[in-house]
Amino acid sequence: MAYIPQDRFFKKAKQDGYRSRAAYKLIELQERFRLINNGNRIVDLGAAPGGWLQVAAKLVGASGKVVGVDLQAIQPFQEKNIALLQGDALNDEIQRQINELLGGMAHCVLSDMAPKLSGIRDADLARCQELNRLALQVAQQLLIPGGSLLVKSFVSEDLQAFSAELKKSFASVQRTKPEASRQGSSEFYFYAKGFQPKPSAAAS
Ligand SMILES: C[S@@+](CC[C@H](N)C(=O)[O-])C[C@H]1O[C@@H](n2cnc3c(N)ncnc32)[C@H](O)[C@@H]1O
Repeated sequence: MAYIPQDRFFKKAKQDGYRSRAAYKLIELQERFRLINNGNRIVDLGAAPGGWLQVAAKLVGASGKVVGVDLQAIQPFQEKNIALLQGDALNDEIQRQINELLGGMAHCVLSDMAPKLSGIRDADLARCQELNRLALQVAQQLLIPGGSLLVKSFVSEDLQAFSAELKKSFASVQRTKPEASRQGSSEFYFYAKGFQPKPSAAAS
């Protein structure tokens, strides 16, 4: 399938004032799963340039909070319920700052993180798998019991193993692919809900 850089979602994003076409993936997944509610605290990993942040900020409203993290700088927003951090989500200090900015445990962790592709398939897939684990690790640190994780993945041999890891921490795990995902892309999302902290983590 040919890669169309400026498809209908790209054009729609420009018209609707979204910073990226990715906004429509979250809009679609929200309609499907109702993953974000008014007043929620949300973490958005791999948030640049900020389409998901715009969607999430509207959904949580003035009483909620969305913290966006990316390796790249994100242009500031006027919305007071969006906080931004530049850095590697893997970094302990960044994870501490997410916690501080959030003002409490998160209701939902979103991860649309994707590596800069090298063109070397195995290396790129290995990095994607690393980012999946990273998103799970952040979710385990920051989610309230019952919270949820939406994480971008790509079709690979690792999927069963990652799905099994998710099932150890969440009551239910499903795979989903929004229509707004680029045609021909092997990307999809895991939606894991009903976070069950390990007893030691819950006690601390
Ligand atoms: C597909 S883009 C995200 C688009 C975003 N959801 C939106 O709506 O605009 C993927 C992002 O993941 C970021 N990323 C990759 N690895 C990361 C890491 N270790 N920590 C933080 N961000 C990372 C990249 O810099 C890139 O901006």
